[in-house]
Parts: sequence; structure tokens; C-alpha cells
Amino acid sequence: MPTPEHSRRTSPASDPSPPGAPSRALRMRAASGWVRFMRRAEAVGSYPVGPDGYERHPLVGARVRDTASGAEGELTAVTRELHGDGREVRIAHIRGENGVEWTASADNIQAAPFTAHVAWAAPSDRRADLFIDIPSELEAALIDLPLPAWRMDGSFLAKSTTEEYRTELTATPRFEETAATLRHALTGEGGGCAVLRLGNIAEAMGIGDRFLRLATGFAAEVAVPFSPFPRWPLWKDIGVKIDKDPGKSSGIGYNAFHMDLVNATLPPDYTTLLCVRPDPLGGGHSILSDAHAAVARLPEDSRSLLAETAYHYGTFFDLHGVGEEYKPFPVLGGGDGFVRFTAKMLERSELGRAHAEAARELAEELVRGQVSFMLKPGDYLIVAQRRFLHGREALAGGQHQVEPDRRRLLLQLFLRASASDGPTA
Ligand SMILES: [Fe+2]
Repeated sequence: MPTPEHSRRTSPASDPSPPGAPSRALRMRAASGWVRFMRRAEAVGSYPVGPDGYERHPLVGARVRDTASGAEGELTAVTRELHGDGREVRIAHIRGENGVEWTASADNIQAAPFTAHVAWAAPSDRRADLFIDIPSELEAALIDLPLPAWRMDGSFLAKSTTEEYRTELTATPRFEETAATLRHALTGEGGGCAVLRLGNIAEAMGIGDRFLRLATGFAAEVAVPFSPFPRWPLWKDIGVKIDKDPGKSSGIGYNAFHMDLVNATLPPDYTTLLCVRPDPLGGGHSILSDAHAAVARLPEDSRSLLAETAYHYGTFFDLHGVGEEYKPFPVLGGGDGFVRFTAKMLERSELGRAHAEAARELAEELVRGQVSFMLKPGDYLIVAQRRFLHGREALAGGQHQVEPDRRRLLLQLFLRASASDGPTA
């Protein structure tokens, strides 16, 4: 099994091994025995399930490769799930080098080829780029930066504020390259989501008005911040209401995969969530899934059903900057690039049987492809709604014993990409 030593990424030139570490020859010999053992294990196919419901898979704890995506990580568990059609599906849970977990079909899992120098090859997909750290010199400059209060132009951040913030921010060291990294993570090939790690700045400043101006400044580097809700401020609280519908954003239960404002003709291009406080009891992991990848795994007839204008969800009133109510809508092929989906409609909307079944299949594929992670204070999650759907694992039990002002708190902000839909429209 790879040791922590192997998990560090090193260059080929870094051998010979550091003092005290096993020699390269010894590591290669151990590796070849490991690979032989794993090949035997793989030949067996599937494995018994323990009383805890987890498969006794011999690769649990080992570094594995998902042959479908080429991504590698540590296999943390293999579970079985029953699909609607009675098929039992084996799900592999894998944790990448950066701590982000995702799931894949256990049938596609094999022991990762051992390489002495680069044991944790960076996955070739977007996962390596999910978290974006702020360079320390930029953190120091931002903590001291006095940005003025923002102004609004209707529902949108005023252009003059965007320009003012950009002038101040681009004068700080390495801001422009950090903003470019963020934009690339959101709009580059295979991209569509990012977590900007503003935790050190949040710790130094507290998450008050000054911090929100900085976060707004970063957001404005991506697209135009706006509020679709006339009664709410630009940043909308998503706290915890223990008596509310548990599946809603401020509920305490599992919040299934969805896009925000799914039933609007112009949903926000980006939805963003700033973590003020995680669940102090340790629940409420954020979940993301690549909607296009999930759709690509569906059979053709299911995709055809999802392309029919036969879906609806929720109510629509008093919303600004998001077009009109869209009802019914097609999940796929609406001509705007969205996978217009919320798994909540499976329970909350009356759908025809075949359309509901296709939606259920998509919901299952989203879960199979999901990544999950815990937002920390100051983490700023930005999701491109055309590419990724989002949700939340249930909060930990016992929320009623947590003081309301200590419960999980996120702040939400929406972004509009196209200037033509913005304040000048
Ligand atoms: Fe949401």
C-alpha cells in the first residue's frame, strides 16, 4: 500500500531517496508484490458485504484508478445501491489527493499502477483545481485594503462599483493572476466550479461588511453580482431553520442535486456560497456533480425523454433579472446550455411516469458522479450552473441543541455572465 512518503509528488530527479527512506530498489520490489496481490484480488470480481453494509473490497485504503475518468485516489469504501429497475449497483467512494471525495462504479476500479516517483499523479480532470488558495502576500494586502461600500443599479451591482473595486484590487500583489486562476477554473475546459479559500482573511477581518466587499470584488471578476430577490440584500443568508422543510436550502436534511431558480427562463449563470460557519456538529457537506457528464452516461431514450418540455418545479413570483417563469420546461436542449434539473421534482412535482423515470436515472447518475467536501469559514464556493449541479448532505443530528447563532451559516450571491442581461439591459 502506498505510504504517506509515496503520496508526495516528487520529480524524477529527486531520487535517490531522502536519508532513512527505503531505497528505490526496495520500493520497486515491494510494489511488484503489491501489484501481483491486487491483480489476484481484482480477478475475484466482487466481494462479500459485511454487517455494516460495506463491501469487503481488498483495495479499500489503497490507491486506485477509475478507468472511466482516469482519476486516481484512495478507495475509502465500496457500497451497494439498488436502482429503480432492481439492479444492484456497486459504488466506489474515492478520496483524491486534495481531500475531495467522489464516487464511481466499482466495476471500473483497479489498483493504480505503482510509480515510484509520482504515486499520486494529479487527476487529469477538474478536481485538482477545485480549491484555490490565496497567495500569502495577497492575503496580507487584502486584509489592509479599505474597499468602499458598494452601490446597486437596480438588482445589479453598479458598474462604477465594479470598476472601483477592480482598480483597488488589481493594485494588490498577485490579485490578477489569482482572479485569472479563478476564471479559468470556472470557464476552462472541464471546469465549472471552484472554492476560493478566503479563510485566513476571514479569520483576520471577521466576516462583516469589509470582508463581503472583498468577496464581492472577487465575484465581480467572474461576472456581474445581482440579487433576484427584491426584499433581500445582495448577499442572502442561508441559515438553519430546524422547523423548515428539511430538503430546502435552510432545512436540516439532505438537499438533493439542483440548480438554483430552475424554473426561470434566465437562471443565474453562477450561484455562489460563502461559508460563515460550517455545521458545528460536522454535517452538511457540500455536494457537486458534473451535469453534462451525468447526462452523457444516460441511455439515448432517457435523454430523449429529458429533452421533452414536460417538467416543472416550484413557484415563481417577485423575482428580478431572471426572466419569466418557465413552466413546463425541458431538462435538456433548452437552447441555453443548462441542464435544467432539480432532483427535488421527483418528490414535489407531478410528472408523467416515463419522464419521472428518466429524471430519476439522471438523479442517480448525478449521485454516482458527485464530489463532496466540507466548506470551512471563509471558503467561497462558485458554481457555473450550466455545468454543475449542487446540493448538501444532511446536517448532523441534534441541531435543536445548538444555539441558533452557532448553527451553519452560508451567504448566497448570484452572478450574471452576460452584460446584455445586466444593469444596462
Ligand atoms: Fe441551491
